[in-house]
Amino acid sequence: MTAAEIIQKYISFFEKRGHKRIHGTPLVLENDSTVLFTTAGMQPLIPYLLGKPHPLGKRLVSLQKCLRTDDIDEVGDKKHHTFFEMLGNWSLGDYWKKEAIEWSYEFLTSNEWLGIEKSKLAISVFAGDEDALFDKESYDIWRSLGIPESRIAKLEKKDNWWGPAGQTGPCGPDTEMFVWTGKGKAPKTFDPANSEWIEVWNDVFMEYNKTQDGKFEYLKQKNVDTGMGLERITAVMEGTDDDYQTGLFLPVIKKIEDISGKKYEKNPKDFRIISDHIKAIVFILADGVEFSNLNRGYVPRKLLRRLIVRMQFLEGKQKILLKEYLSKYTLNPLIEVVVNIYQEKYPEIIKNAKVIKEKILGEWDKLKKQMESAYPQVIKVINKSGQIVSGKDGFYLFEAHGVNPEVTEQVAIKYGKTFDWEDFKVEFKKHQELSRTASAGMFRGGLADHSEKTIMGHTATHLMHQAIRDLLGDKVHQSGSNITPERVRFDFNFDRKLTDEEIKKIEDIVNEKIKENLPVHFEIMPLEKAKKLGAIGLFDEKYSEQVKVYFIGDYSKEFCGGPHVDFTSKVKRFKIIKQENIGKGYRRLYALVG
Ligand code: SER
Repeated sequence: MTAAEIIQKYISFFEKRGHKRIHGTPLVLENDSTVLFTTAGMQPLIPYLLGKPHPLGKRLVSLQKCLRTDDIDEVGDKKHHTFFEMLGNWSLGDYWKKEAIEWSYEFLTSNEWLGIEKSKLAISVFAGDEDALFDKESYDIWRSLGIPESRIAKLEKKDNWWGPAGQTGPCGPDTEMFVWTGKGKAPKTFDPANSEWIEVWNDVFMEYNKTQDGKFEYLKQKNVDTGMGLERITAVMEGTDDDYQTGLFLPVIKKIEDISGKKYEKNPKDFRIISDHIKAIVFILADGVEFSNLNRGYVPRKLLRRLIVRMQFLEGKQKILLKEYLSKYTLNPLIEVVVNIYQEKYPEIIKNAKVIKEKILGEWDKLKKQMESAYPQVIKVINKSGQIVSGKDGFYLFEAHGVNPEVTEQVAIKYGKTFDWEDFKVEFKKHQELSRTASAGMFRGGLADHSEKTIMGHTATHLMHQAIRDLLGDKVHQSGSNITPERVRFDFNFDRKLTDEEIKKIEDIVNEKIKENLPVHFEIMPLEKAKKLGAIGLFDEKYSEQVKVYFIGDYSKEFCGGPHVDFTSKVKRFKIIKQENIGKGYRRLYALVG
């Protein structure tokens, strides 16, 4: 069964059970600063898991493209990926454990659907701890479906609890489903440590909200959030234990074989890293990210450098200079196969294929220049190092020769050595000056949080939006925003540079509102009512009947998912640090809070 057939079956199974299909979101959620990239299908649904009514109802199903960089060092084995797709179904305060588990079981085992042998299934459930009890309900449901006791493992929070996606938010115990992929009959007893048991699906029972002080309180509603990794289930259904030997990867693997003249079987790790990373890079760039040293932009930069080092070593000529390698090849053939695999599902990648190629070529050229002088230095440093290449050496290469630590690390690995990342980070921190300017994003690989600063940033953004309108008129409105713990970024339509006086005036208004300590609260109301009230802001739910509006005293009313501070004085201080012209009559401001 191919990936496309699995997707079609999954969606239709849940549609028949009252679910509405929602379309996946981009990898970059412009108005969500809690993560760099979409890491799970539940990510775009957080407001609804917290209680906001979803325009399409209480049962949803989707296929979501996801990107996770937390496990980047595991990429290279048969199962790990940075870019992957996830199927999922949700109950937003509707059905609960019984239906969720029974449907999962039916979908996996019924011959009408995936038809996986029941004797090859194993389960894990949450064992319980000081925050939440043993999930006896799920255990009993699995037993009632005929799963023997010896095939149900009771595991702790680190294994059987999912979320929150950031530091705070919806989460709960989960039950996970495993399929035996080893040779012969599955062992009688389930041993989660045996890697021939592959986890294919988890049903998360989201009834908790993790608060900022680390407590777990009950949510307004009990939600189900499930996730089935497409790459893994496709491997199971195509009868292999290696995700990279499925239709989702084989065309890329074949192309790498053509380019390098080497075989996958002999170099599986290099092949897997290259094919994983090229997919991730293509998808990240397709969603509008540029290569840079900041936050999101550092991720494709890091991936490309790791990929290039792997490609070079695949050639087997460990002594040739990276620059020679770089002049010889382009990544266009690899980009094209990735586009071919995914273009039907994700039209954005075919639409942006040309731009993606140009961006990669630009970065490739930059790297080429950088490497001309630098690569011999890398080899020199690594040759003279002992078994561990120190962070100091890595930092020297970075600072003096512009070599990103990923390159040093990968070359070190290829010379049979290791790179001391922790030591590198220590060195790096000593040079705070640099970390503020050049590379502040380098250590933000995956999830950020609903940190205090971010929440302050959200409220400051509403105040700034209103202040800008007070000053420049009601035709001016927000066209985008992005909030990280480091700064607030705000885009709006206006066709000239703001004067220093205007900037100062906006700052003054916002700081005055902060001083007034206005209360902040939200109301969920019909869209029409919100419009009548004059609520401003971007709202994504085109078809939504109910919307969430945040009120700041009676100064600002704006559509928003939150979160916000409860009183404006918590924002403390607001300062605009920079303005930019982003073209076509739009401007961008950067500001600091706190
Ligand atoms: N959020 C869970 C996951 O990512 C289930 O969707 O696996």
